[in-house]
Amino acid sequence: MEMMQKTTMKALAVLPGVADSARIVETETPSVDEVPNGRGVLVKVLRVGIDGTDKEINAAEYGAAPEGFDFLIIGHEGFGIVEEVGENVSGLKKGDYVVATVRRPGTSIYDQIGTNDMTTDDTYFERGINLRHGFLAEYYVDDEEFVVKVPEGLKEVGVLLEPTTVVEKGVAQAFEIQRRLRVWKPKKAAVLGAGTIGLLATLILRLKGIEVVTFGLQQRPFLNSELVEAIGARYESTRERSVIDFAEDVGGFDIVFEATGYSPIVFDAMQALAKNGVLVLSSVTGGSRTVEVPADRINLDFVLGNKVMVGTVNANREYFEVGVKDLSQAALEYPGWLERLLTHPVKGLENYEQLFEKLTNGQGVIKVFCEVNDH
Ligand code: BGC
Ligand code: ZN
Repeated sequence: MEMMQKTTMKALAVLPGVADSARIVETETPSVDEVPNGRGVLVKVLRVGIDGTDKEINAAEYGAAPEGFDFLIIGHEGFGIVEEVGENVSGLKKGDYVVATVRRPGTSIYDQIGTNDMTTDDTYFERGINLRHGFLAEYYVDDEEFVVKVPEGLKEVGVLLEPTTVVEKGVAQAFEIQRRLRVWKPKKAAVLGAGTIGLLATLILRLKGIEVVTFGLQQRPFLNSELVEAIGARYESTRERSVIDFAEDVGGFDIVFEATGYSPIVFDAMQALAKNGVLVLSSVTGGSRTVEVPADRINLDFVLGNKVMVGTVNANREYFEVGVKDLSQAALEYPGWLERLLTHPVKGLENYEQLFEKLTNGQGVIKVFCEVNDH
């Protein structure tokens, strides 16, 4: 093989284990040949969203560097454009807009059948999170298997796909579980939390024609409550009325999607379910909170009401594909709505301090994202 001169690129990385270590690193630009069998896809990164996971990684609460590196390139909510493909890539070409999935296969049976999101392994391989570099870089390379095409019409909002997939997986799991009921047709849903995930969950449930009540702390009106109402859902502040009180009035919810990050509300959610209802838990709560609950009553209602509770994390390719369809439907049904979630852009990797600053202290923050390259 001919020796080529390696070029370098800029990336945003942390030193895992060192708090507030986010910095720009100069590292080798990846090449399509790094992926075996000619299946490599080189992606020029356009936008990358950040969230609580990135904050935790920069606080050294989580995250590990890939083998052979002392730094971890962060960012798992990517959006980019294909720059080059290997000779055996068939479904993607230069110029396609794409988003890559986050988790890579481990060794469990679930990993072997393409459902890495259901792994039973203790070690997660997640781009931008654990043991695999992420997308806050000028370029990344991945196997075609993990790179999902996004239609050009979604290029302004494609950065929302990864968070959407977390919702898609949770909702799909709920429907899958409810096949036990033969004729389940959910009419009423509650979404707990009105942040990015809560808003996207409201959207996905509304696209299914379900009546949705979204609960947040803050009192209406504000941007998030307006976004909820703009898609025909109802916003309620838990400062005014608890989820349980509300459920008593409407006779309980067929589906509850929890996305507040506040674990005690889970026990309220359990009590807000209708008979045969399903509760989906999606908050990654790293704390050590404890709480006292009416255990007998909750248990009794679960037993007598045939209720279900399911945890959900991450998403595999299947949910990225459903996410693309739903974002397209949303763009048609609620034009301009997804764009309103993109509240806090930061131009250029070098301004990374603003990413964390906006995520922590920004006014009216829904999605903070970095504009890495122009296109
Ligand atoms: C990501 C998931 C990931 C999870 C736990 C979330 O922020 O969106 O893909 O699995 O963090 O690490
Ligand atoms: Zn995330």
